[in-house]
Amino acid sequence: MLNPTLPSTFLLLLLLLITLSHATNPHHQHHHRRGHEKLSHLRFYWHDVVSGRNPTAVRVAEATTTNASPTGFGAVVMIDDPLTESPELGSRLVGRAQGMYASSDKEAVGLIMAMNFVFVEGKHNGSTLTVLGRNQVFTETREMPVVGGSGLFRFARGYVQARTHWFDMNTGDATVEYNVFVLHH
Ligand SMILES: *[C@@H]1O[C@H](CO)[C@@H](O)[C@H](O)[C@H]1NC(C)=O
Repeated sequence: MLNPTLPSTFLLLLLLLITLSHATNPHHQHHHRRGHEKLSHLRFYWHDVVSGRNPTAVRVAEATTTNASPTGFGAVVMIDDPLTESPELGSRLVGRAQGMYASSDKEAVGLIMAMNFVFVEGKHNGSTLTVLGRNQVFTETREMPVVGGSGLFRFARGYVQARTHWFDMNTGDATVEYNVFVLHH
């Protein structure tokens, strides 16, 4: 049988805990702000232009063994890739992906991506999101964490889903669809 005084004891304990946490945390208004957390979904296309005269992805370092590695292990690429509204490179620019990716897997083709999405239009102009994660580029859908943000995306956390839209085997140029799901204030 349940002890009939148990629920009220539990309630009292809960009240005590809430009182204590408020007493020890004078900045408890953050509980209030939590209620205003928003979930945003953004979609755009990421263009990795490796070829031509004006590449937006440049290899800056590699190991002496990189060329002998089936996965290009050790190659480091710096990027300033355009982010556009539609799959076409010439469509409306919404931001840039600035940062780097590097081959970090000796067995499979797997990159560590460390990049900032820098938004340049609309209400997000000037705000950023930071992505840090693993990108197994030949997998259909890759998920990477959003680890933070600035401006409208302060306190951001969430994830992205990346799907290759187009890839040129000869040049290495690629267009990737990014869906971003992010909680922020
Ligand atoms: C974005 O912000 C910059 C700097 O404040 C400004 O120069 C630019 O015109 C803005 N762009 C758009 C499309 O609003």
